[in-house]
Amino acid sequence: MNKQPIGVFDSGIGGLTVLDKIIEIMPNEDYIYVADQGHCPYGTKKEEEIIECVLNVGKYLIAKNVKAIVIACNTASLFIKYLREIVDIPVISVIEPTCEYAMKVSKNKRIAVLATDTTIRKAKYQNMLKDKGYEAFGVPCQDFVTFVETKELDDPEGEKIVRRYLTPLIDKDVDTVIHGCTHFSLLEDNMRKVLGDKNYVACGLPTAQALKEILTKSNSLNDANHHGYVKIYTTGKVENAKENMKWFKKNHEEIKHIDVEGK
Ligand code: DGL
Repeated sequence: MNKQPIGVFDSGIGGLTVLDKIIEIMPNEDYIYVADQGHCPYGTKKEEEIIECVLNVGKYLIAKNVKAIVIACNTASLFIKYLREIVDIPVISVIEPTCEYAMKVSKNKRIAVLATDTTIRKAKYQNMLKDKGYEAFGVPCQDFVTFVETKELDDPEGEKIVRRYLTPLIDKDVDTVIHGCTHFSLLEDNMRKVLGDKNYVACGLPTAQALKEILTKSNSLNDANHHGYVKIYTTGKVENAKENMKWFKKNHEEIKHIDVEGK
């Protein structure tokens, strides 16, 4: 048994879609979530800037004595090796579990990957899919991040922007759509209006299952009777964070502002 908390982070509130699933399958753990909103978006930054953000948040979480770190952000997960180099606890990426899950559910082997500019450009999803004989259709949808971070999810602008980016996919005969950015599953209702019924694969469940497997194998889960806490921190404005994560229904402590630079 290991009573230390689990650290989870993203550039913003998108990673809460992953934390949500993690809490569902491991309710007895303590969680510390960092929304690095002071540096959001990651997807348009230079690689060295993203690496700096990943290391700063990672070091902050290490100082909080976490037993594992989930990078609940696809863009940041691309640079996981830099964090793994400096810590000796498990660091989990969302990309591999999500991609493997998508390959399992696709029947026609034609899969769309929706992600940030950087994630599409680095093509990790597309290469993993192609290596296994799947057709991959990568679509950069960076504006979805701004929408989720700044608007109400039912704002009519949501459907318009999703339609604009996803119309080129309509005739591609994909049966599976990967939300290759943790913000994107929050726009799934609008995606269904444009693309119809597909397998929409979000990062949450596959990543939560991967984390549980790792903690179970190393006998690092918390006491099964423990009532876990959820602490949420933002490097941006607390008011904005609160406003845009109303959809997150899990109990958590009051959101606090933190600085992570130079930790
Ligand atoms: N939620 C993040 C991801 O999964 C990135 C959003 C961004 O900061 O550009 O890629």
